[in-house]
Parts: sequence; structure tokens; C-alpha cells
Amino acid sequence: MAEPSPQPKRSSLPHTRTRGIFVGRQREMSQLMAALDDAMSGQGRLVMLVGEPGIGKTRTARELAAHAERQGAQVLWGWCYEDEGAPSYWLWVQLLRAYVQRADAEQLIAEIGPGAADIAEIIPEVRQKLPGLEPSPALEPVQARFRLFDCIASFLKRAAQSRPLLLVLDDLHWADKPSLLLLEFLARLVGDSHILVVGCYRDVELSRQHPLSETLGQLAREPVFQRELLRGLTEEETGRFIETAAGADAPGELVAAVYTHTEGNPFFMAEIIRLMLEQGDLFNQDIAEDGNIRIPEGVKEVIGRRLNRLSDRCNQALTTASVIGREFDFRLLSSLADNMSEDKLLGAADEAVTAQLIEEVPNRIERFQFTHALIQQTLAEELTTTRRVRLHARIGEALEELYGEHVEEQAAELAHHFGEAESLAGPEKLVHFSSMAGERALSNFAYEEAQAHFQRALEAKVVSLNGLEPAPDGEAAAVSCLVPSPVRWTSQFFPRISPMFHA
Ligand SMILES: Nc1ncnc2c1ncn2[C@@H]1O[C@H](COP(=O)(O)OP(=O)(O)O)[C@@H](O)[C@H]1O
Ligand SMILES: [Mg+2]
Repeated sequence: MAEPSPQPKRSSLPHTRTRGIFVGRQREMSQLMAALDDAMSGQGRLVMLVGEPGIGKTRTARELAAHAERQGAQVLWGWCYEDEGAPSYWLWVQLLRAYVQRADAEQLIAEIGPGAADIAEIIPEVRQKLPGLEPSPALEPVQARFRLFDCIASFLKRAAQSRPLLLVLDDLHWADKPSLLLLEFLARLVGDSHILVVGCYRDVELSRQHPLSETLGQLAREPVFQRELLRGLTEEETGRFIETAAGADAPGELVAAVYTHTEGNPFFMAEIIRLMLEQGDLFNQDIAEDGNIRIPEGVKEVIGRRLNRLSDRCNQALTTASVIGREFDFRLLSSLADNMSEDKLLGAADEAVTAQLIEEVPNRIERFQFTHALIQQTLAEELTTTRRVRLHARIGEALEELYGEHVEEQAAELAHHFGEAESLAGPEKLVHFSSMAGERALSNFAYEEAQAHFQRALEAKVVSLNGLEPAPDGEAAAVSCLVPSPVRWTSQFFPRISPMFHA
């Protein structure tokens, strides 16, 4: 990769100016604020912000969140990530965990009510705050899941009585099926609550088979449901965006060129402006006036060109981080970064933060995240398959060590990395962690997830899924026997494998 061109001192870099700007979206914001007003007065609502990557779903939700906090509501966020082996109900776990951590024990006892032990199954923090919880009586799996959903919905409704809640569910197109089922459950009950649920998703990702499509079909029947489609910003808004970012008048030709290229997509726009500011092109009137503005053709190109301006070290660290996931632990990255001292790695992280490619995760020590999924994706795509597979294997091993005795909680994440590394590392760890993740999902009543994990383990054991052959060994049979009845009912192949083994 090219050496970085000489850069001005960090403090004088102009690219932080694209931060904090919010243009347009008056119509969407007034709809969202009206929905919030309804929720604050006890008529809960559910609004979906829909649109292509980078169009401003998260940003618009953030604006609403800031407004909601000013109005006295409490805001809780849940994020979904792409294929990273998050634990079941991760979306809800994040959001409930944030609430539980902030609440004091007395308030929590009143709000969480009789469902405390059930909720503690997926949010262990509940047990830390309320020690000595008696386990709930065991139920058949289907009823057990109903009870869990009911406990969570009742808890949220009670919590919202003392202070209205805004729940933001971001990137729902990556949510696991059990999380979506819980959303459907809650949607039926929010109408008479002080809760506003705002979901974000990419419509471009949705096929008819996508789990979210089915959920949306269900949600659309609820009277509380509303969908807001975000389109590109207008040319006039593009002009305002550039002027605010650059702190100077933007020539009409420049605005027109950026608008045409980006179709008003603010992420694309912001990346172009950052690149032009870094290159000093934005203030170069000649470029704009002779109409020869060289604007990157696509989002990936602009990100690639911005990355080319960073040091090799920074690129290397970011590429490795992109395989870990949207969020990554600095210690983990450090253990993977060969021949780079921790100081140098910190310098590289600093450089990436300054370029706004990554940011620190609020309230988490030594944790960073990519500022947008498109940046992580662009970096990951630059890797050759061989390197990616190797990195996944090393990440799996490093995580195993890092998690130590807590590895079971993170089994799905390990299964993900060992799954990606299977061609190099073999099936052993994939089978081990997939089975563990499946068992964990079962104990959380996340049956669809459990089935997916067990299926993966069986496939890694090269168990034919046509149901015509017996399980090849005890381990495969053990995995297939773990699958409980509700999953068997929904499965086409498990019922055929296990009886054959027992025969
Ligand atoms: N209305 C807006 N005005 C200014 N910048 C915006 C606006 N909407 C989005 N952005 C910026 O564009 C980028 C992408 O927005 P984001 O909300 O992350 O997109 P999405 O969630 O739809 O993928 C972010 O840097 C964000 O700050
Ligand atoms: Mg987003």
C-alpha cells in the first residue's frame, strides 16, 4: 500500500467538521416526534426507519434519541451485527442490560416483578443486582418462551410507567429470529404503554425468505405500526451539508457533482467531502470551476481512497479488526498484530479515530467500533480468502483464551470464527462450539438459533441431512439428541437422524 502523503498536524485536520451536522429530514423528524408525544402520553407506537445503507437511519434515530432525552424519556439501544455469532436475543440483551445496570435494586424489584428469574436467564446482571432469586418452575419449551417474552414485555411496560422509554433497534435486517419474535410479541402490547419502539433496517437486503420479511408482515397488522422510508437528501440539502462541513461557500458545480454522484446518500457524501478536505481539493476553486471534479464512482472507492491515505500500519490493523467484527477489543487486536508493539498499535488506532473510520465504544474500556458497517465491509473484502481464513482461526483461538471460563457465554462467536476457519482448522472446534452455542440457545428458549447451531455442528461432522444414514459416531448422535421436541417439530431432518442412531 502507498506511503501516506505528508499530513498536516492532527489538530488542524479539517475532517471532524462532517460530525454533528444534521440537514433536512424535517418530515421524518416531525413524524417521529409525534410518535414520541403519543408514547409519552401512554399510547405506545412502533416506527420503522427504512432505507439503503448510509441513507441516515441511525443518524435520524440519534436525533430523535437526543430529543427524547430532552423530553425526559429514557433511551435504550440495541444493535444487530452481520454474521458475527452474537448470543441469542443479543438485540434485547444489550438494551435490557443497559437498563438493569442503571436501575437501583429497589426500583428493579418493583419493575421486573415476578419475571426476575426468567429474565436473569438471558441477562445475568439481574442476578448480580438481585441475588438469591429462586428459579422459576420448569415449563414445556413453548410455554417457557411465552413466559420469557411476557416477563420482558411486562418489565418494559412497568419501567416505562415511571419514565417513558424509547427503544431503538438498529439494523434489524441482521437480527436473529428469536429477537424478531420477541419484537412481534412486544408490538402487540405497546399500544397502551409509554414505549416508543424505533427500528431501522435496510430494505435492499430483504428477500421474501428473510426472517425480517415475515416479522414485518406481522407488524404491519398492528395499529401502532408505521413505516418511514428515508430517501436521498435534496440538492439544496447537499449544498448545505457541504457548506457546513467545509465552513465555506460551496461552488454550485461542486454541489451538483456531489449530488449527482451520491444521489443524496449522506454517508457517501460525507466520505467524499472528507476525502476532498484531506486532499485539499474542496477549497481549490479551479477544480470546481473547470467542471473536472474527479469524484469516486462508488462508496467502496471513496473509502478505499481514504484508506490509501493512511499509514500501512493503520491499514493493517484495521483490516485485521474488520475480521473480528463491527466492534473489537483492543487487547484482542493487539494479540493478533504480529510485529507491532502496543504503542504502535495505539498510534494506528488513533490515526483511524482521527480519520473517523473507527470510534471508541462509549462506556467500554479498550473497545472500538467501525463508524459504519460499510467501512468494515470494504476492509474485509480487501483480504484474500487465505488470509481471512487464517485470521478467523487465530481470532477463534485468541478469543478462547481471552474468554477463559466464560467461554460458554460466547460460544456462538467462537463457532462463527471456527466456522469461517474450517478449511484450515478442521471441524473439531466448530463442532465443539456450535454444540455449546446450541445448548446455550436452548436454555434461552432460542429454538431457531439452537437448531441452526446444531445443524452446523452436524454438517461439520459431514452428517448427511437426507436422513437416510445413521449418525456416524457418538458425538454426532449426541448433538442430534440434544435437539428438543419443539425444534424437532420444526425440523425436517432431526427426527430421522436420532431414532436411527438409537435403533
Ligand atoms: N440528515 C443528515 N445530515 C447530515 N449527515 C447525515 C444525515 N444523515 C446521515 N448523515 C451521516 O451519514 C452517515 C451515514 O448515516 P447513518 O445514519 O449511519 O446511515 P444508515 O444507518 O442508514 O446506514 C453518518 O456519518 C451520518 O452522520
Ligand atoms: Mg445504521
